[in-house]
Amino acid sequence: MARSNPGLLLGLLLLRLNWCLAVDGGGAEEGGGVFPVVVSTWPFREAVRAAWDVVKTGGAGGSAVDAVVAGCSACEELRCDGTVGPGGSPDEKGETTLDALIMNGKTMEIGAVAAMRYVKDAIMAAKLVMEHTGHTLLVGEKATSFAISMGLAGPTNLSSPESIEKWSNWRQNNCQPNFWKNVAPAGNCGPYHPINIPKDPVKSAVWENQGITCQEWLQNDNLLEPTSSHFNSVNRHNHDTISMAVIDKMGHVAVGTSTNGATFKIPGRVGDGPIPGSSAYGDDEVGACGATGDGDIMMRFLPW
Ligand SMILES: *[C@@H]1O[C@H](CO)[C@@H](O)[C@H](O)[C@H]1NC(C)=O
Repeated sequence: MARSNPGLLLGLLLLRLNWCLAVDGGGAEEGGGVFPVVVSTWPFREAVRAAWDVVKTGGAGGSAVDAVVAGCSACEELRCDGTVGPGGSPDEKGETTLDALIMNGKTMEIGAVAAMRYVKDAIMAAKLVMEHTGHTLLVGEKATSFAISMGLAGPTNLSSPESIEKWSNWRQNNCQPNFWKNVAPAGNCGPYHPINIPKDPVKSAVWENQGITCQEWLQNDNLLEPTSSHFNSVNRHNHDTISMAVIDKMGHVAVGTSTNGATFKIPGRVGDGPIPGSSAYGDDEVGACGATGDGDIMMRFLPW
């Protein structure tokens, strides 16, 4: 491997919050001085520090995968901004569920869990899927059973007094705002029934409620803090995921995400968090990319 030109490109694109790391040439050999690297969405300093503490030591305990797990686990424990781990983002029924993904860029193995109930260690569950199954993604209560059978703690109540209070305030506000569209009634918490399904598939493909096209959306100056009243706006205090990439001393790449999803989501909703290639992707030969934001939009446009 060439030792010269250990180029590293870190891009923070203002499409909501994305990053890409490109790996070029060496840096893995002693004196390369470039690796390890830890990158995370949002200023989740404790998570980055936890990942860094693992990866800076190198050796067996210092792999990129272990560092991603340490970093995302730190955020789950700290409940980073209430958007990661237990105790945040209640769904329409008041329940918190978790999504997580991990990818090993050396082996191209992936593990993920989605809409997992009653287990708080989401990134560890994802790692168990990656390392002990031939599958990629386990969901719902089946993910719960798998995680507990593999030794994680549970069943655990993932609600907190804060998430329950947030949820009951929302109920008192007629369940507004919410994620339904083309339904009646608009409020009063349902049950909802479909009305007025758009006949024009092009029209229905624009960013709903705003009447704008993808291009206009991408050109919008207010991407990081939209001024629109669209419910699912994303900003420093209303976002949804940690997405992290690590390159370890050997030059191996790993990425991971962990989230409790969108607040007041319709039960069963899964965003981009646990979807490989939508929230994050990593490959030793190329690098890694990650993004967080409005997962229901990101999955449609794959902005990075
Ligand atoms: C779970 O925790 C929340 C918040 O502490 C509490 O309101 C709720 O009753 C608990 N649920 C169960 C089944 O214990």
